[in-house]
Amino acid sequence: MFKVGLIGTGFWSEKHMKAWSRIPSVEIASLCDRSREKLTSKAEEYGVSHDRLYESAEEMLEMADIDFIDIVTPPETHLPLVQLAARYGKHVMCQKPFAPTYEEAAEIVAIAKKVGIRLMVTENWRWLQPAQTIKRVLESGVLGEIRVARFIHSDYFTERMVPGAKLPQPFLVDMPKFMFYEMGVHWYDTWRFLFGDPLRLYAEARSFSRNVKGEDSGVVTLGYEHFYGLMDTCWVTSREMTGPIVEDEVDAHFVEHFIIDGDKATLKMYGTQGKIVLVDHNGQETVVAERTVLDHEESHFRLQSHFIDCLESGAPFQTDGEDNLRTLRLTFATYQSMETHQAVALY
Ligand SMILES: NC(=O)c1ccc[n+]([C@@H]2O[C@H](COP(=O)([O-])OP(=O)(O)OC[C@H]3O[C@@H](n4cnc5c(N)ncnc54)[C@H](O)[C@@H]3O)[C@@H](O)[C@H]2O)c1
Repeated sequence: MFKVGLIGTGFWSEKHMKAWSRIPSVEIASLCDRSREKLTSKAEEYGVSHDRLYESAEEMLEMADIDFIDIVTPPETHLPLVQLAARYGKHVMCQKPFAPTYEEAAEIVAIAKKVGIRLMVTENWRWLQPAQTIKRVLESGVLGEIRVARFIHSDYFTERMVPGAKLPQPFLVDMPKFMFYEMGVHWYDTWRFLFGDPLRLYAEARSFSRNVKGEDSGVVTLGYEHFYGLMDTCWVTSREMTGPIVEDEVDAHFVEHFIIDGDKATLKMYGTQGKIVLVDHNGQETVVAERTVLDHEESHFRLQSHFIDCLESGAPFQTDGEDNLRTLRLTFATYQSMETHQAVALY
C-alpha cells in the first residue's frame, strides 16, 4: 500500500481524490489545506477521518504516516512544499505550472535529486483520450514523415469573466502570465509528447478581454529541423462556445482541432466531438475515432496509475522534474518572444 498525503483540497483536487480512490494500492492517508472548510468537506466526501486532517503542511509531514505527497496548490507554494518533502524524505507528485520561474523549477529539481526523492509533475493532458489516440497513430508510422502540425484551441471565452462572474478558478483573472503559463504548460507538454522538442519558437500574443490581466490569445510557430508546427490558441473567440465555462467539461464549448500532415497521409481531429480521421493522397477518409473526449477524470486515473507503477518498479516518470524543465523552457521562451518580437533559439 502507498499512503498519500494530499495538500490543497481546492477545485482540482477532486480529480486527484477520485483517481487515488480507484487505485487499489493507494490509501488517502491524510489531507492538508489552509482552509478548514475545504478540508472538512473533502474529508467527509472521501471518508478521511478528522484526526488525519492538517491545516499546515509541516505538521502533516511531521505527524502523518505517509509515503508521498500530492501537491495541488498554486505554483508559488511548490518550492517550499518540495523542500519540506525533501526534509522528511517523501516522494512528490506536484501540479503544474511546476514553478513561477524556470530558475525556481530547476531549484526544485536539484533539491529532489540531492536527497533522492522521486518527483513527478502532474501533466495530465498527454493522458487525455485525444492525445493518446494521436500518439498511437504517430507511432504506427501511417502518416510517414511529418511535414506540418497545426493545433487550434478555443476555450474559456475570457469576455465572459466579467467582475462578479462565478468562476471555478477566480485567480485566473489576475494572472499577469495567463494562457501560455496556466494552460500553455499542458499544450507544450502534449506537443513534446507527440513531436519531441522544437529547436526554436516565435510567438505573437495579445490580451484582448478587459476582464483578464494576462494574454488571452496567441500564435506560436515551432521550428524543427525537418518540419514546423503552429499552435493557434484563442480565448476571446465566441465560436462554438455556447455552454457554461466549466460545467460539462467534455462538451461542445471546449474546442480543439488538430491537423498533422505527413508525406503519406494527413490526420485531422475536428468538430465538437473530437472526431479523428486519416486522409490519404486521394482524399479518402478512414475514421480512427468517431468521438474523443477531454476525459479529465480518466486522464488523472491513467497519470496517477503511472506514478504508482513507476514508484513500484523504479522506472522513470514520463513527466519527471527534469522533463518538465523542457516544457517550462517553451513556456517562458513564449513570453520572451512575445515581449522582444524575436524568435528564441531553444537548443
Ligand atoms: N492539471 C490540470 O488540468 C489542472 C486543472 C486545474 C488546476 N490545476 C492546477 O492545480 C493547482 C491548484 O488549482 P485549483 O484550481 O485547485 O486551485 P484552488 O485555489 O481551488 O485550490 C488550491 C487550494 O490550495 C490551498 N493551499 C494553498 N497554499 C497552501 C499551502 N501552502 N498549504 C496548504 N494548502 C494550501 C488553498 O487553500 C486552496 O484550497 C494550480 O497549480 C492549477 O494550475 C491543474
